[in-house]
Amino acid sequence: MAPPKIIIIGSGLSGLSLSLFLTRLLPTASIKIYEVRPSTHPSTSGTINLTPNALRVLDHLGIYKSLIPEGFNFDNLTLLNHQFDFLASIPIAGVSEFEYQSLRIERRIVHSALLRKVLEHQSPIEIIYDSKCERVEESDTTVTVTFTNGVSDTADILIACDGIHSTVRKSFVKDPKDFDPRYTGQMSIGGVITKSQIQEYNVNNNPYPLMMFGPESSTGGNFMIWPYDRSGDQFTFFTTLPKPDEEKDWKKYTEDKTVLKKIMQETFCSDGSPWNEMVRKTVELSETEGYRFWPFYLHSIPEKFYSEKARVIMIGDAAHAMPPSGGQGAAMAFEDSETLAYSLAVAFNNAGLSNGSNLNINTPQGQNILSKWSDHRIQRMKAVQEMNKRMSDMRKGSSGSTSGVMFTVKVWAIWLLGLLGVLGRTRRVINNYDAKKEAAAWLGEEAIARYSLE
Ligand SMILES: Cc1cc2nc3c(=O)[nH]c(=O)nc-3n(C[C@H](O)[C@H](O)[C@H](O)COP(=O)(O)OP(=O)(O)OC[C@H]3O[C@@H](n4cnc5c(N)ncnc54)[C@H](O)[C@@H]3O)c2cc1C
Ligand SMILES: *[C@@H]1O[C@H](CO)[C@@H](O)[C@H](O)[C@H]1NC(C)=O
Repeated sequence: MAPPKIIIIGSGLSGLSLSLFLTRLLPTASIKIYEVRPSTHPSTSGTINLTPNALRVLDHLGIYKSLIPEGFNFDNLTLLNHQFDFLASIPIAGVSEFEYQSLRIERRIVHSALLRKVLEHQSPIEIIYDSKCERVEESDTTVTVTFTNGVSDTADILIACDGIHSTVRKSFVKDPKDFDPRYTGQMSIGGVITKSQIQEYNVNNNPYPLMMFGPESSTGGNFMIWPYDRSGDQFTFFTTLPKPDEEKDWKKYTEDKTVLKKIMQETFCSDGSPWNEMVRKTVELSETEGYRFWPFYLHSIPEKFYSEKARVIMIGDAAHAMPPSGGQGAAMAFEDSETLAYSLAVAFNNAGLSNGSNLNINTPQGQNILSKWSDHRIQRMKAVQEMNKRMSDMRKGSSGSTSGVMFTVKVWAIWLLGLLGVLGRTRRVINNYDAKKEAAAWLGEEAIARYSLE
């Protein structure tokens, strides 16, 4: 029986975590990861926030503990208005209720922890850099990928982990144009600053992270100040702004960071600005070089996350990019990879047991498992997106045309109480997700009990 050959496109957070789960749960598989980036710059920069559901997956991979000394742990978000009045402290994580605190950390640190794990113990995972996937074709028995450098490779299955602008997604949905990523007209702009530079303006000593909301999106709907290192000295700050300009204009943001700082100054520091001293000083005192911007894209979500012959599967942003305001994109990618690895382990082993010949995913059993996995993940996505939507409405300032009216203390209070209630319930749903327990629902307790990550 030939061991399964698996190709992964993309060595981002989903590609690396999937490969690690596969080596544990399907140890006979040979795994090749193809990545467009050069080996010298394997990751993008910036910081991300990891909620308990994301950290649980990283814990299962054995890397969570190594991340704690590198990031900022917290349980609560402090909500303030533009005048720096305290609105609420929202509990979003915590060991007692969710097993984990939340962790804000540099993305490249998470990426390199995963990469180190891949390189450990002569792992059966091979990463091939400088390889841009161009197209993917499946037959009844194999899947073939071709790269822009002319190289091609063939495997039993191929998993698309190539992010929101996924090439693989285009190769198997019926109308690729319908699944093109679209710019949402919103972008995040932010920079970095140290605690010592701005602490004196945090007049009531509010605990970090701070999430501040403005009266109108035209004068800045929101402003976040968020520590991202263990000591809590390094801060990232950012806002989400409507920026309906076209991609061609963004070149100037990359080339000249003074443009980004100027946008922030105009929004938050002008004479008529309603914003508090803390926000104004943060923008004014920040180094121009530290500024970055992230345009938000979305794409339509396919009906299922696998192809007709089940040889092409997609996870992470390639399958379902979400608005970054919910801070769940990476978490979803991690959950995808753990649940998919269990599903593939059971699918391949069942196929092997039943027909005794070549392991094959393109069987009624294989298709059935993938279809249940895919339905489950789509349901999960919808639940999380519901919460995302609330968060992003909140960040836009108040929702829609009611902005002026809504910004009275009374309405804020009522609205916040409602939000806290909803958030409390949603938080439990989001934070308590455990992939192995979930997967037992469609794989069966018995089938899954054989597998251990130890
Ligand atoms: C501003 C911003 C803030 C965010 N904050 C958070 C947060 O706080 N918490 C959170 O959970 N999520 C957050 N996210 C979302 C999170 O970053 C993504 O959901 C996550 O990175 C998805 O991982 P991925 O591996 O699917 O895709 P990616 O990380 O995009 O990785 C895709 C990989 O595929 C490679 N690739 C692309 N095309 C090809 C090709 N044709 N051939 C070969 N390789 C290719 C890329 O180089 C890359 O390495 C944020 C996103 C943004 C934009
Ligand atoms: C979060 O808030 C709760 C309730 O106010 C408090 O008991 C807890 O100590 C806070 N957690 C942290 C880490 O500050």
